[in-house]
Amino acid sequence: MQVRSADAAEIDRLARLWHDGWHQTHASLVPQELIRLRTPESFCERLQAAFPNVHVAGPIGAPIGFYVLEGDELSQLFVSPEAHGSGVAAALISDAEARLAEHGVETAWLACAIGNDRAARFYEKSGWRLSGTVVNPAETSSGPFPLEVWRYEKRLTLST
Ligand SMILES: CC(C)(COP(=O)(O)OP(=O)(O)OC[C@H]1O[C@@H](n2cnc3c(N)ncnc32)[C@H](O)[C@@H]1OP(=O)(O)O)[C@@H](O)C(=O)NCCC(=O)NCCS
Repeated sequence: MQVRSADAAEIDRLARLWHDGWHQTHASLVPQELIRLRTPESFCERLQAAFPNVHVAGPIGAPIGFYVLEGDELSQLFVSPEAHGSGVAAALISDAEARLAEHGVETAWLACAIGNDRAARFYEKSGWRLSGTVVNPAETSSGPFPLEVWRYEKRLTLST
């Protein structure tokens, strides 16, 4: 599975994939106030802001998953439901780890919503370890929204 840079023409498709996946997974896990702030437009705006750091699996115009990097953080990883369990997520996270390592990151981290058990299991089987529960400000149009999350970390090597 090849992972490529996002194409500007597919921002709307990616934003829909992210919006739908986020709401399906997070609706029962985070405060209602945050759910109200996560509008379709908000995902589009955040993707546009992150654009050079968005990496995608699937054909241009028909993405099936993506990740976003922010410094030493794997800040988003979403795969469309029909591709769950297919190995697409493994290809994306392995590409993300290689890219982070190439950028000199020794220990990468990510935030996972508390109770997102499928994602947690996926990270653990991919070699990431739970380092604890921390407050991580979620970006919103109303400013940072403090949210308790599981923090996962992984030591990287250039051959990861
Ligand atoms: C998180 C995500 C990228 C993982 O990709 P995936 O293709 O679903 O991952 P896999 O199927 O390879 O692995 C999931 C594992 O969780 C297990 N699992 C499934 N449901 C589970 C649950 N409710 N509780 C615990 N484990 C669960 C699966 O059996 C599998 O483990 P196994 O391979 O040992 O059997 C994908 O599910 C996704 O995009 N989810 C929605 C968005 C999301 O939550 N992103 C992460 C934000 S932090």
